[in-house]
Amino acid sequence: MSQKLNILTVAGDGIGPEVTGEAVRVLQSVADLGGYNFAFREELIGGVAIRAHGKPLPDSTVKAALDSDAVLLGAVGSNEFNALPPGQRPEAGLLKIRAELGGFANLRPSFAWPGLSQNSPLRAEVVEGADILFVRELLGGLYFGEPRQWDKDQGAAWNTMRYTRDEVVRVAKVAFELASKRRKKVTSVDKANVLEVSQLWRATVTEVAKAYPDVALEHQYVDAMAMHLMNQPRSYDVVLTENLFGDILSDEAGVITGSLGMLPSATIGGKVNLYEPVHGSAPDIAGKGIANPLGAILTAAMVLRYSAGLEDEATAIETAVKQVVSDGYRTADLARGDQSAKVTSTTEMGSKVREVLVGARAQAPAAR
Ligand code: IPM
Ligand code: MN
Repeated sequence: MSQKLNILTVAGDGIGPEVTGEAVRVLQSVADLGGYNFAFREELIGGVAIRAHGKPLPDSTVKAALDSDAVLLGAVGSNEFNALPPGQRPEAGLLKIRAELGGFANLRPSFAWPGLSQNSPLRAEVVEGADILFVRELLGGLYFGEPRQWDKDQGAAWNTMRYTRDEVVRVAKVAFELASKRRKKVTSVDKANVLEVSQLWRATVTEVAKAYPDVALEHQYVDAMAMHLMNQPRSYDVVLTENLFGDILSDEAGVITGSLGMLPSATIGGKVNLYEPVHGSAPDIAGKGIANPLGAILTAAMVLRYSAGLEDEATAIETAVKQVVSDGYRTADLARGDQSAKVTSTTEMGSKVREVLVGARAQAPAAR
């Protein structure tokens, strides 16, 4: 990597600051252990930005994001703004920063962590061994399509699910490239039995697949996929899908990992990569020190993998997380009332991960 990695943190709302704090401390440990220079700068997004500046994404945040090497986001969303129209809510800040940075491929791995299978509401024999990488298209579909409006006089509202061929081609290529380095299977999810936009999606993905003869392609309808994911999560390698379907299916995939709090994500393909855990701001548990920081910590690992080329360090973080959960440490979301669990706070969980990282380094200095 270059001498220095400039990371902008936008912790946002709810549990965002608590979990981002742990992710930053883990990154700082990696820097200390490896002699790297990671510089952190903070800006506002979401509800906190509305309170301070009257809008969910201040220009200063956009500028700082474009000037950085990687943006690490916590979560946005706050009940206080529930009555506002979509364009003024905290979430609008998130959609805007995604658009400004331009990353169109949102990678959301869902992995059945050994030791956590007992904490999934699914039976252990169903989830064990599951390892899925969702590639969610992030800049198109219903989220960004025009026209969109709630016409109160007419008592009608509409959104537009729109994709161009080029938008599908570029995200499909990312899915096939990643699959060719994994188990060589892409499952493309659509609703081509009903929607024209899905027919374009399916035809385009089929065309892109021709350039990847060693990768198998299958198509699934989104409703069937929602069921298959719970019945046979091990059958999937890379799952490619449009924006809204990917939003829904990736939350569902939290069940495989034991908790939504375990899921990281990275958005690539734009000017600057954007990293965010999949969980939201969880206002009900914010400020209590009980949020699961592992999704954010695993997101930090993705920063190292995709923005710093530090694959060994990324893997070291993931191995440390594996160790901590197999040692029995559980935040409340993971413990689910399990009497034998060592129930751990947000900061304790972060410390455990750092202890394992430091310990692993002390044991094997020559190998790294
Ligand atoms: C996510 C979130 C966001 C989305 C919201 C907060 C706008 O649910 O990242 O999955 O829908 O993309
Ligand atoms: Mn979501």
